[in-house]
Amino acid sequence: MKLALFLVLAGLVNSYSIARDDLRGPPELPVPTRPLEWGDVNFLSTSDTHGWLRGHQHNTWPEPNYSGDFGSFASFASHMRAKADKEGVDLLLVDAGDHHDGSGLVSSSEEAAGWTDDIFGMLEYDVLALGNHELYKYEAAKWIYDRRERWNGRFLTSNTNITVEEDGKVVNVPIADRFAKFETKQGLKAHGRNITVQSPTKMAREAWFLDAIHDAPDYFVLAGHMPVRGETSEWLPIYQAIRDRHPLVPIFIFGGHTHVRDCVQYDGRTIGVVPGRYLETIAFTSSDLPPANDDGEALRMNRRYLDANDVTYRWHAGATLGNFDTDLGRNISGALAALADKLKLSRVYGDVPHDYFLTRHPYGHPRSVITVFERDVLPEALEDEWRRDIPRIVIGNAGSLRFDVFKGSFDKNDELTVSPFTTAFFYVRLKAGLGKAIADEMNRAGASKLLPMSGREEDDAHVQQVYNEWLASQWNEYVENGGDDLFENEGGQMPLGRPVPEKPKTLGYATRDACVGKGDDIEHIPVPFSPNQVDFIRTPLKGVPDDMEIDVVVMDFAVDDFLTAAQMLRPDLKLGWDNFKPYAEGTLINSIFSRYARIAW
Ligand SMILES: *[C@@H]1O[C@H](CO)[C@@H](O)[C@H](O)[C@H]1NC(C)=O
Ligand SMILES: *[C@@H]1O[C@H](CO)[C@@H](O)[C@H](O)[C@H]1NC(C)=O
Ligand SMILES: *[C@@H]1O[C@H](CO)[C@@H](O)[C@H](O)[C@H]1NC(C)=O
Ligand SMILES: *[C@@H]1O[C@H](CO)[C@@H](O)[C@H](O)[C@H]1NC(C)=O
Ligand SMILES: [Zn+2]
Ligand SMILES: [Zn+2]
Repeated sequence: MKLALFLVLAGLVNSYSIARDDLRGPPELPVPTRPLEWGDVNFLSTSDTHGWLRGHQHNTWPEPNYSGDFGSFASFASHMRAKADKEGVDLLLVDAGDHHDGSGLVSSSEEAAGWTDDIFGMLEYDVLALGNHELYKYEAAKWIYDRRERWNGRFLTSNTNITVEEDGKVVNVPIADRFAKFETKQGLKAHGRNITVQSPTKMAREAWFLDAIHDAPDYFVLAGHMPVRGETSEWLPIYQAIRDRHPLVPIFIFGGHTHVRDCVQYDGRTIGVVPGRYLETIAFTSSDLPPANDDGEALRMNRRYLDANDVTYRWHAGATLGNFDTDLGRNISGALAALADKLKLSRVYGDVPHDYFLTRHPYGHPRSVITVFERDVLPEALEDEWRRDIPRIVIGNAGSLRFDVFKGSFDKNDELTVSPFTTAFFYVRLKAGLGKAIADEMNRAGASKLLPMSGREEDDAHVQQVYNEWLASQWNEYVENGGDDLFENEGGQMPLGRPVPEKPKTLGYATRDACVGKGDDIEHIPVPFSPNQVDFIRTPLKGVPDDMEIDVVVMDFAVDDFLTAAQMLRPDLKLGWDNFKPYAEGTLINSIFSRYARIAW
């Protein structure tokens, strides 16, 4: 029996599978080769799942590596727990938040996000944290508050309060429990109104916190939606407060939010691990505990980033195809399929002829999803029935696109994944030349750099930036080291039309973190990355003189940037929101791809 103290922070920060990509057949997954290093305490951690509980379903690398669904993960967790019991060690399951906003399951509607949370709750975690994406909307936080009992006191929200009415009185209370102390078998800037988030620095001085850490447990477990690296990491004040009182008790920190695989050790007995995003990675963390006659020496702490797929799961669980799935795993997969069915996520709109990538190719490349959106999708699929024959340009945020579009069937889930937002369109009558100049100026200024962004947009942009920098560093290192024959003489770009290698190594993450040894369970060739992208797209306009008045159509997320740029170029026009009228009223951007797919794919 070990006594562990858990503290959790919300940080700053079935039939359908047969129909999918069936012609290409399932690619062969690589098999792990290095057994996990088990210790006295072991963890499986997830974070930033963003609704990807059905797993990744396309056959373009590296997607197949992340093809395990949440049911498979549950089966894996059961096998690992059984293994731990047999060895007499601890195996704990930890999640660090961000369940909402992402795949079709959670982006269909708020109700759907709640139903998805219910399925997530079928797997019993030892400790769970909230992410910023559960705090943007009061309703989502309230949903968790209302169900706080169901998590058996393990959904912990040490620094996040909610304002609710109870017995006719308005009270400000923690969303769920603040901490948990139990015997094992063996943070935030943006949030909805009525939700308060305490800074970790202040929290580390609060009486309840100091009280909670007063007595030494066998080890501390901290879970929270914050990155672990950097001198300004929000984890440091909490870590320091614990270290001040307990210099030698091991501390295990499980973070998230930046969507990267990462690990750092603050000292020889503290490890912080971040498992990446979208159910692509399960992090395994382990350590022995100090010996009885403790000499204070550093402990051997390990982390491993497992690709979330059945081949990896079975290999590490020591299970076979025949005995891997558990009842719970099957039930979860069944519940996910039933929900996907109810939400019609497998409704197919077309057959995509090629892969289109968000950041593998530069803007302008024919296989860039941003480029195809600008040059084909918007021009073909956005239509205002009253203004059909009037020349126009459409200006919008490239950031409204969130994921790659893969060769093969294109369904409702794919549409919501690539374009989840519900932004509408507006137009203003301007000279064609001015419309184009404004779009250029918007890109020169960069997305909302000249405007105060909402906390949410800033958070999203920051996460995307950290993630992209991570991809860029992997790719740059690979290219600097000579890359691979297949990529030779391509100037660091993935050659068009050349198949991506599947053997001997497949594409994926090539992680460099700050911990000892190799973190990635399977060695990958990094995914190509091009930094040459744009913030705003503008549809082409041919055969129209610059001094002709046209419809300049703007996505509503981009209107503020548009007006700022217009003010810069033509202050005399005094353009404002009043000058805009709805365009293609009733059409939201999250339905544009399916319209296009029906026409062209
Ligand atoms: C995918 O997984 C296979 C098998 O686990 C591995 O060999 C390969 O490198 C992985 N590829 C990517 C792109 O992740
Ligand atoms: C905040 O909570 C109070 C009390 O429950 C409620 O009256 C108010 O409508 C809430 N505000 C928002 C924005 O949800
Ligand atoms: C959260 O609620 C608790 C209990 O009502 C209160 O003691 C604490 O000060 C609140 N914290 C914040 C940051 O509002
Ligand atoms: C799986 O679902 C069946 C049918 O609803 C139920 O009887 C069983 O208890 C469930 N098993 C688990 C482990 O959830
Ligand atoms: Zn996230
Ligand atoms: Zn987040």
